Amino acid sequence: TLEHITRSHAKMASEPVNVNEFQELARKVLPKMYFDFYNGGAEDEYTLKQNMEAFQRIRLWPRVLVDVSRIDMSTTLLGYKIAAPILIAPTAMHQLAHPEGEKATARAAASCNTIMVVSFSSNCTIEEVASSCNAVRFFQLYVYKQREVSAELVKRAERNGFKAIVLTADTPKLGRREADIKNKMIAPKIRNLEGLMATEVDSNDGSNLEAYASKTMDASLCWKDIEWLRSITSLPILVKGVLTHEDARMAVEAGLDGIIVSNHGGRQLDYAPPTISVLEEVIHGVGGKIPVLLDGGVRRGTDVFKALALGAQAVLVGRPVIYGLAAKGENGVRTVIEMLKNELELTMTLSGCPTLKDIHRSHVMTSQESL
Ligand code: FNR
Repeated sequence: TLEHITRSHAKMASEPVNVNEFQELARKVLPKMYFDFYNGGAEDEYTLKQNMEAFQRIRLWPRVLVDVSRIDMSTTLLGYKIAAPILIAPTAMHQLAHPEGEKATARAAASCNTIMVVSFSSNCTIEEVASSCNAVRFFQLYVYKQREVSAELVKRAERNGFKAIVLTADTPKLGRREADIKNKMIAPKIRNLEGLMATEVDSNDGSNLEAYASKTMDASLCWKDIEWLRSITSLPILVKGVLTHEDARMAVEAGLDGIIVSNHGGRQLDYAPPTISVLEEVIHGVGGKIPVLLDGGVRRGTDVFKALALGAQAVLVGRPVIYGLAAKGENGVRTVIEMLKNELELTMTLSGCPTLKDIHRSHVMTSQESL
């Protein structure tokens, strides 16, 4: 009946068709305090917004009459083959989005044949994540003043089959996220640290996040400490948070295995440049010696394409994964990744690029180049 059709249309219309609609679903289902924690950035949130706006300033220049009847999005990263150049960025505390937490995210990553970078500040333990998914996983590391605590987590990650360490370098202290302060956001204990240290910190500033970070994070960490990290693990090490060609060169000199161009999704230094606008500079500093990845503001397959055209080997997505997790659990994460993959596939098709190798600098024009 017509009524039946109308009703099923109404139901269909409520299914999100893109990442931004998943964000709106997440906003609806999550308590405001948690949504703000995931969604927000530092201070004026200038960098947070610019991450996305900078992508929008880049135009695509398609080629026509290329055989695009078959599209291959697969790529290899540190020797691991993945279905598409879209990884899951490390984000903290997935159980505030869904009771299954990182276990659900890891299973979704496995079913999409991609790599999840599991946050140091996960709710599920390293062991729980490892036993819920046998796909390739990387472990994101924060270095604590108590170095032995961080060393212990690196060893546990290695024992549990994680394939790389992602050292986050942009967080000697926590950026000032004012929404969390206003909401008096209190983070749960980090279960990975149970038995290793007392993780409860009182707050007199509304949220316990900053207070906790300033008690634990080692703000003295510097390039020479890469040697220490090398001495405690045989895993490849990527550095996350590089935004300049100078630091890119330092990373190569320090013998690191990869760079993630990142401003922490606009949650650390506000007014840091949007990642896509510094990608080429960083790649120039690296000179092709190690892979360069990018995160921050990727919400569309066209964004992935733009990053690849400007030289990234792959991108990572942070918030989109959390929106999917909050809205629909493991299925939601899978849908978000698949959406981005489908959008990338269509972008490659319409741009005349059957494989990732066919995506060239000439397929994009940045705002500086277009008058
Ligand atoms: C993060 N990010 C982050 N990075 C990291 O190295 N360790 C962490 O624990 C976290 N935690 C975290 C929590 C939340 C809620 C967000 C949104 C982000 C930063 C993350 O890895 C990545 O750099 C950004 O999320 C990328 O930007 P988009 O994709 O969110 O725009």
